[in-house]
Amino acid sequence: MKNVAVIGAGTMGNGIAHVFAQANFHVSLIDISPDQLNKAITTITKNFERQVAKGTITKEIKTKALQYIQTNTSLAEGLKDADLVIEAATENVDLKLNIFKQIDENAPTDCIFATNTSSISITKIAAVTSRPEKVIGMHFMNPVPVMKLIEIINGYATKKEVTAAIVALSKKLGKIPCIVNDYPGFIANRILMPMINEAIYSLYEGVAGVEEIDTVMKLGMAHPMGPLQLADFVGLDVCLSILHVLHDGFGNPKYAPCPLLTNMVTAKKLGVKTGEGFYTYTAGSKDFVVSERFK
Ligand SMILES: NC(=O)c1ccc[n+]([C@@H]2O[C@H](COP(=O)([O-])OP(=O)(O)OC[C@H]3O[C@@H](n4cnc5c(N)ncnc54)[C@H](O)[C@@H]3O)[C@@H](O)[C@H]2O)c1
Repeated sequence: MKNVAVIGAGTMGNGIAHVFAQANFHVSLIDISPDQLNKAITTITKNFERQVAKGTITKEIKTKALQYIQTNTSLAEGLKDADLVIEAATENVDLKLNIFKQIDENAPTDCIFATNTSSISITKIAAVTSRPEKVIGMHFMNPVPVMKLIEIINGYATKKEVTAAIVALSKKLGKIPCIVNDYPGFIANRILMPMINEAIYSLYEGVAGVEEIDTVMKLGMAHPMGPLQLADFVGLDVCLSILHVLHDGFGNPKYAPCPLLTNMVTAKKLGVKTGEGFYTYTAGSKDFVVSERFK
């Protein structure tokens, strides 16, 4: 594999383009928004500069890597030479199914199709293509250049050779792949989201306050971040939508989202991105304090 097309130039897409370019792949970064493409190149450049300043890469590697990235607003044009397509567009089922139909129509015959979805069924995405055996999940973690794990998700029809190729490729990027099967939430979110939901239930039932819950999990379990702070970082809307996927997918009441989480999302208290969730955040500052609502 030499040529990789990345669809979606947001938070994850720019990180994915970054790690592939650093590993000497030709990257075609595709987005419907030229603005997002410009922003992505600025972010990637800044992130490479930070690595140079830290001494983890040389200036020459940075310059070479940036030359490997081309941008495109046309999907058909952007993936015409791709050996691998990684879709990292907005988390919306209809949007992704539509993108995969277009990928299927335009990608070369031998191309492997991967999706970075956090929660949508790989089998469902694969079913809209004429080559479900070549479709796989490649769930990168945020921030992509820093996080070592790639959760590799086999769809119902994914061929062993395709999984093997993606495992080898992940190692080439310096990442650690973990293979899992396609059931709701895969592994990462199936375990993380119920833990976050339970932390929210504990707050809702008055068992402990925001800081106490997070401190117990940080100091007691050596988690780098408490579950409520992590929920704020992920986005409470994203947490709620993944809990719905688990609840609907398994039909088990243990995944029912806490009513407090539902209320906070309705009130648009989504965490870091809206400036308030369980904590309040000030733009441009790393400081945060427990939200007034929970004092
Ligand atoms: N943010 C995270 O922490 C995280 C972690 C793991 C996986 N994911 C998954 O990665 C994917 C992307 O998430 P994100 O946080 O980068 O989202 P984002 O909102 O930052 O970026 C999404 C990008 O997709 C683009 N887009 C929308 N429709 C498109 C189309 N038809 N063609 C091409 N581009 C299109 C948007 O313009 C935007 O730039 C989602 O599936 C999400 O579930 C996110």
